[in-house]
Amino acid sequence: MPGEEWRDEKERVELVVHDLDLPLPELGRFDAVSSFAIHHLADERKRSLYREAFELLEPGGVFANFEHVETQLGWLRDIGFEDVDCYWKWLEMALLIGVRPGGAG
Ligand SMILES: C[S@@+](CC[C@H](N)C(=O)[O-])C[C@H]1O[C@@H](n2cnc3c(N)ncnc32)[C@H](O)[C@@H]1O
Repeated sequence: MPGEEWRDEKERVELVVHDLDLPLPELGRFDAVSSFAIHHLADERKRSLYREAFELLEPGGVFANFEHVETQLGWLRDIGFEDVDCYWKWLEMALLIGVRPGGAG
């Protein structure tokens, strides 16, 4: 059960409901911006939102976006590859691997 400490934290949280397809409202400046929703947006909007997040950050602030490569993994699976996944990442490159079924292994 959350104690007194948690109640204090809740009073410091402000919940803002917003459609990320639209420009962000005036929110002030932040040390960190994190998202697990941007992957729903069109690429063009993702790009403009990244710029808006950049502008919201204090110097040294961090932007974290949990993005996925599911679309391309889905293409590989649809073609017939198995064991499809993102097995490694280097810089902006993701290593997507799939195995053609029916091999000896
Ligand atoms: C993978 S869920 C993550 C939910 C939550 N952010 C979290 O971290 O647990 C992605 C969320 O993005 C929301 N979403 C999709 N399009 C959106 C948009 N245009 N604006 C705001 N949220 C959106 C979905 O409704 C969904 O709740």
